[in-house]
Amino acid sequence: MQKILNLISQDVMAAFEKAGYDAEYGRVTISNRPDLCEYQCNGALALARKYKKAPIMIANEVAAILKSEKTFSMVDAVAPGFLNMNIAEEFLTDYVQGMAEAEHFGLEKPEKPETVIVDYGGPNVAKPLHVGHLRPAIIGESVKRIIRYVGHNVYGDIHMGDWGLPIGLIFTELKLRKPDLIYWDETYTGEYPQEPPFTIAELEEIYPTASGKSKQDAAYKAEAMENTYKLQSGVRGYRALWQHVMTISVADLKENYRKLNVEFDWWKGESDVNDIIPRMVEYMKKEGYAYISDGALVVDVKEETDTKEMPPCMILKSDGAALYNTTDLATIMDREEKIHPDKIIYVVDKRQDLYFEQVFRCARKTKLVRPETELCFLGFGTMNGQDGKPFKTRDGGVMRLEYLMREIREEMVRKIMEGHATDAGEAEQTAAIVALSAIKYGDLSNQASKDYIFDIDRFTSFEGDTGPYILYTIVRIKSILNRFQEAGGDVEACRIRVPQNDAEKCLMLQMTGFNAMMQSACDEIAPHKVCAYIYDLANAFNHFYHETKILTETDEEKKSGWIALLQLTKQILETCIEVLGFEAPERM
Ligand code: ARG
Repeated sequence: MQKILNLISQDVMAAFEKAGYDAEYGRVTISNRPDLCEYQCNGALALARKYKKAPIMIANEVAAILKSEKTFSMVDAVAPGFLNMNIAEEFLTDYVQGMAEAEHFGLEKPEKPETVIVDYGGPNVAKPLHVGHLRPAIIGESVKRIIRYVGHNVYGDIHMGDWGLPIGLIFTELKLRKPDLIYWDETYTGEYPQEPPFTIAELEEIYPTASGKSKQDAAYKAEAMENTYKLQSGVRGYRALWQHVMTISVADLKENYRKLNVEFDWWKGESDVNDIIPRMVEYMKKEGYAYISDGALVVDVKEETDTKEMPPCMILKSDGAALYNTTDLATIMDREEKIHPDKIIYVVDKRQDLYFEQVFRCARKTKLVRPETELCFLGFGTMNGQDGKPFKTRDGGVMRLEYLMREIREEMVRKIMEGHATDAGEAEQTAAIVALSAIKYGDLSNQASKDYIFDIDRFTSFEGDTGPYILYTIVRIKSILNRFQEAGGDVEACRIRVPQNDAEKCLMLQMTGFNAMMQSACDEIAPHKVCAYIYDLANAFNHFYHETKILTETDEEKKSGWIALLQLTKQILETCIEVLGFEAPERM
């Protein structure tokens, strides 16, 4: 379906043309004075100078033509030259009924679906997920779902940090604690045990210990680097041990991301490109892009127009070791060779923006990607605590994600039990669903690049611009529809009818923005637009609900129109929360 603003603009543009003016000036926007009108066009003001004519005269001429159009119930030329318009009820009703019948509520499929990779999550294996992992998971998941909903081919890749120094550090500590493990014996040629020599809990404790020691002890750090090198160059025992780390960590990560409703299509990591790095390096050298500087292999990425410092991109350290960006570049090469993406979106902390600028420039300069491939960096801001500083535990430590989630679930259980008496079991289940909406909506309703304050009290509130408020609205609609059905009503047979009051018309108008909203959320990689839209939609619905006695209405025609409207509101809200990455319970 065409976007409603386009449809209306077409009429107004035609009227401008008919009156002898440039059609371009007839573009319509949603009114910024909803007290006066629903739509407006300011084209006459802009035209006045060109035609040396009072804008109100132009507006009057156009208004006279538009008055005969069926699209509008009101067209008014207002000093100094605005065109104010209200949409005709029948026109609106047809549009909304069209949405109810169309696939994706009338959002048109892209003419040429693109292949898009969303690189998000980026956890490091053997380390527990902490609050810092919340934003990339939540935002990335939503970005992936929005783009997929719009009709593109999307792959979500977790891009685990599974190959660098952290693994070398773990090995160093493990060797100290368990020197007799067969994996350390480089002369051993037999099979390695199936059972990993550690648990996830041990791993999670080993890493911070090792990392702490390496900062104090140069020899310890040197050994960790040596171990990293041995792993990367393929020493059998080290690879076997690494495999254990992976098996244990990935199982744990899967479980944790599942609880967040986050699903990756690809569980790839930095390690997956290890074997193609030599080929990439050779290519960069052969084509003359990379050269040796102070022993390291680098590619210059400075541009003449740069105002800020832009250091060269280091491909290999002087000891031949690969770096963080080496794996990112090799991953780009791999993706290009395997699926030719039209776009790769990186959802990563915005403090890595200079890093990604370097990587993107290097990938372009060395032609690892086709010139038309888009490389996008969606840098997100910091999640702060109430004090405006990065979110910490009460004693100042980094908070594990599990603990944060538990805290919010408990708060949710408390609120649910307080609201009405349910059994604790049901409250627990509902709380888990609602808590996720609180966290995700609290995050996604902010523009991703901004820092925001994680405010448990506000996020878990059933009122205001929150996830629970949206869910509450959906649950309210579900309950009305259920009661209608229990009384023998057939929801599917109901059709949208001409609005009976202002609140109903407002609700319908709000619905019509769906396709334009979803399209721009996709084009601009902006999940917050989905949040803003459903918040307005939920408000419009609740306003309508308070004005209207639906189930007790005796006029069956009216009632059926309202039920159809409720059904559509519910479907739109459910679709939107689905792309945001959460769901609604049956009751709450
Ligand atoms: N593992 C990285 C970190 O902890 C984040 C990965 C971001 N994604 C990427 N393609 N580099 O900082």
